[in-house]
Amino acid sequence: MRVSNSVSRLADYYRRHGLGTTIRRVGVAGRQAFFAGRMVVFYCNLDEQRLRPIGVPNILAVKRVNTLAELSAEHLREMTSFWNPRLASRNIRERFDKGASLWLVEFESHLAGFGWTLQGRTIEPYYFPLAQNDVHLFDFHVFSHYRGRGMNPYLIDRILDVFATNFGGRAFIEVAEWNDAQLSSLRKTPFRCLGFVRSFSIFDHTLVSWRSGPPVLPFKELGVAPRVL
Ligand SMILES: CC(C)(COP(=O)(O)OP(=O)(O)OC[C@H]1O[C@@H](n2cnc3c(N)ncnc32)[C@H](O)[C@@H]1OP(=O)(O)O)[C@@H](O)C(=O)NCCC(=O)NCCS
Repeated sequence: MRVSNSVSRLADYYRRHGLGTTIRRVGVAGRQAFFAGRMVVFYCNLDEQRLRPIGVPNILAVKRVNTLAELSAEHLREMTSFWNPRLASRNIRERFDKGASLWLVEFESHLAGFGWTLQGRTIEPYYFPLAQNDVHLFDFHVFSHYRGRGMNPYLIDRILDVFATNFGGRAFIEVAEWNDAQLSSLRKTPFRCLGFVRSFSIFDHTLVSWRSGPPVLPFKELGVAPRVL
């Protein structure tokens, strides 16, 4: 992108959001550039997982959607309107076609966030092959109005609970190193850090480089309830 474009986008952002938010946004962009492509991979052993019984608050509901036909037009619109709607809709269709499940978390019947799972494989090339019972969790999103209220860890806990009860295997999720919000959120779930990784795809091959770091970092004591509201 040309420098003049970046400057005009920055000026536009400043006009709309003010100085404080613009400084914060520049900080995030710097971190994203610095940590580009560097991910932290987390795992959870579902077969030995003693997932705690979670009291389900009445105001929260988690729903699993397996086909595009099951997704309401309103939810589809909410999921696609904050990004490029055409691309987002195409992604959603492709994911369902590949057998992925969409998980919705609703707060007082309003869509608060969502995340995806795919069993036995991943949509994109991954750092290692998955076994049949393994599940990949990806692309979690909580709408800005609901952030910081434990929606994401609650949704992830519910998903892990379903897979632990029905399949065993292992669950994997990865997060960009710069993404403090998701890193902090995952600390409230049973996920543990497997390692730090960087990958490059060339033609049909993916080159993976693991960086030294704590191989197994217990991020969370089981039994600590997630903070919901
Ligand atoms: C990452 C994300 C899913 C977390 O969802 P969440 O339901 O807000 O998760 P939590 O309630 O556990 O909050 C996680 C962290 O978000 C940050 N946070 C708190 N309030 C926030 C707010 N109003 N807005 C933004 N972030 C906030 C805090 O750092 C919090 O950590 P803390 O509880 O230790 O202070 C959400 O921020 C999001 O959708 N981000 C954009 C998409 C994304 O990055 N997805 C992850 C990649 S797969």
